[in-house]
Amino acid sequence: MNKARRPLIAGNWKMNHGGANACNLASAVKRTTAEFDKVDVVVCPPFTAIAWVAEELRGSAVQVGAQNVHPKDSGAFTGEVSASMLLDAGARWVILGHSERRAMFGETDTLVAEKTRVALDVGLRPIVCVGELLEEREKGQTLDVVKRQLNAFASILADKPGVGAIAYEPVWAIGTGKTAGPAEAQEVHAMIRARLREISAEVAEKTRILYGGSMKASNAEGLLACEDVDGGLIGGASLKAEDFAGIALAGQKLA
Ligand code: 13P
Repeated sequence: MNKARRPLIAGNWKMNHGGANACNLASAVKRTTAEFDKVDVVVCPPFTAIAWVAEELRGSAVQVGAQNVHPKDSGAFTGEVSASMLLDAGARWVILGHSERRAMFGETDTLVAEKTRVALDVGLRPIVCVGELLEEREKGQTLDVVKRQLNAFASILADKPGVGAIAYEPVWAIGTGKTAGPAEAQEVHAMIRARLREISAEVAEKTRILYGGSMKASNAEGLLACEDVDGGLIGGASLKAEDFAGIALAGQKLA
């Protein structure tokens, strides 16, 4: 099987490994994925570890991302970090609009769009997250919710086709051990692709759409084999290099 797009396997470490442990994990990821030449591998540590991890990964193909950014470049925004600061620290990617940020930190579609614009302008590659709550899925609202979230930033991504990625993360599958089955994931991914195609054929062909939510080595192959699943955004299983490498290997095999 040949994937239409080069698989992207990104680890979201969330609020884990902010110090020396981050370097050990990054070093293990570098070692365990060194042979994989057909997938892009990204790790996203907490802010405090970005520069260390970037240093640890210097010269390797594994890239570094952040988990959030502030839309302004500098100023009186206590506790925040700007896109140019992330770039300076060695980040090349940034996760935006994660459901945890939407639910716990009040991030709206408008704010996520603003962050997407700034990341692209500064030269960071955004991975913008979308996904429905369990309650929304049960009410049959999945496609409507994801389309609403997507509409907020899709045309911004279209300015630089293929630079950014989208992650479909059903909220009920995050950290729960419940995964969307390949058919459930593909249905949403296909809708996202179709919506991108309405904007431009190029953005639809080039944008990688990742799946996230309890992805692990044992279920990665089935998910990544879906036509419109171009990679994964991995939480828990990205905290152990062997587990994460197992997912990257599934991408490598299918690429
Ligand atoms: P889990 O892989 O732990 O379910 O987390 C998914 C996620 O939120 C990645 O951003």
